[in-house]
Amino acid sequence: MSLFSAIRSRMGAESSPPSPAPSSSSTPPPASQAGSSTPARTASTTAISPRAPRGRAPAEIPPHGRVLVVGATRSGKTTWVLVQLLQLLRFTQLYVVILDTKGERPLHEFARRHRFTVAMGEAAGLREVRSSKRPHRLVVRCFDPLGDIANELLEALYNGSPGTVVFDEAMHWSTKSQIPRGARLLMTAGGGRHIGVWACSQRPVEVSNFFLSESSHRVLFKIELEDDQKKIAPLLRLRDPRAIDGLAKYHWLYKGDDPYEPVRHFAPVQLAA
Ligand SMILES: Nc1ncnc2c1ncn2[C@@H]1O[C@H](COP(=O)(O)OP(=O)(O)O)[C@@H](O)[C@H]1O
Ligand SMILES: [Mg+2]
Repeated sequence: MSLFSAIRSRMGAESSPPSPAPSSSSTPPPASQAGSSTPARTASTTAISPRAPRGRAPAEIPPHGRVLVVGATRSGKTTWVLVQLLQLLRFTQLYVVILDTKGERPLHEFARRHRFTVAMGEAAGLREVRSSKRPHRLVVRCFDPLGDIANELLEALYNGSPGTVVFDEAMHWSTKSQIPRGARLLMTAGGGRHIGVWACSQRPVEVSNFFLSESSHRVLFKIELEDDQKKIAPLLRLRDPRAIDGLAKYHWLYKGDDPYEPVRHFAPVQLAA
């Protein structure tokens, strides 16, 4: 079953927002799900707000924003990004490039269904980006993300049109201490050119700090390893990293740049009908 048909069949039987979101996990929900309408206090500098309706991402996440999506493997990161992109692509002629280092089937099914051009390899991707008939929607299957051609591709994207660049696995695009020049340019200066960077990572401790510190929108799925929790907690302004514990399956937290905004808790995304 495809990623999206799985989501559809999973969500089909459920009522629409703002009904409570059942969790398929046996993990207890976060304190904020306890049924009270008062925001639950966690051991955090900011409270986690009560459950938000399921569905779309907060409207303040723009295509040209710097978005960080973290969570354990299979926690729902790629699905979240694809669902958001689908919303954006529905209404705009947005230029979107997905950089894929894993070659996962659901991503390629998504690409086919939504008429993305698929380039196999960095060199093929570079040709597409530089072509006069550059496709609006492109997936590049990258085999050597730290290589020279990959860097050329990133620089070409930086010098290209406004749009959104998705790093599906940011950890493959940097080491703890090094990040390719093109990725650094996109992260630090892409916003000024209306080029967004949406980066997913399953191991925040293994990702260059650039991806973490330059992000202004953070989406957090279940994450279990203590060192990852410790690394990510300050970005969400959580004093106690254990506040992340117990996030139910496919549920996510969102924290923007406004220090006075509480961390918001969202139910799983679903594909719009
Ligand atoms: N919101 C969701 N509702 C239902 N199933 C989901 C949801 N998000 C993810 N999944 C399922 O979980 C699996 C892993 O999701 P994926 O997005 O690939 O995780 P990650 O990118 O974090 O490894 C997918 O195959 C999909 O079927
Ligand atoms: Mg993924």
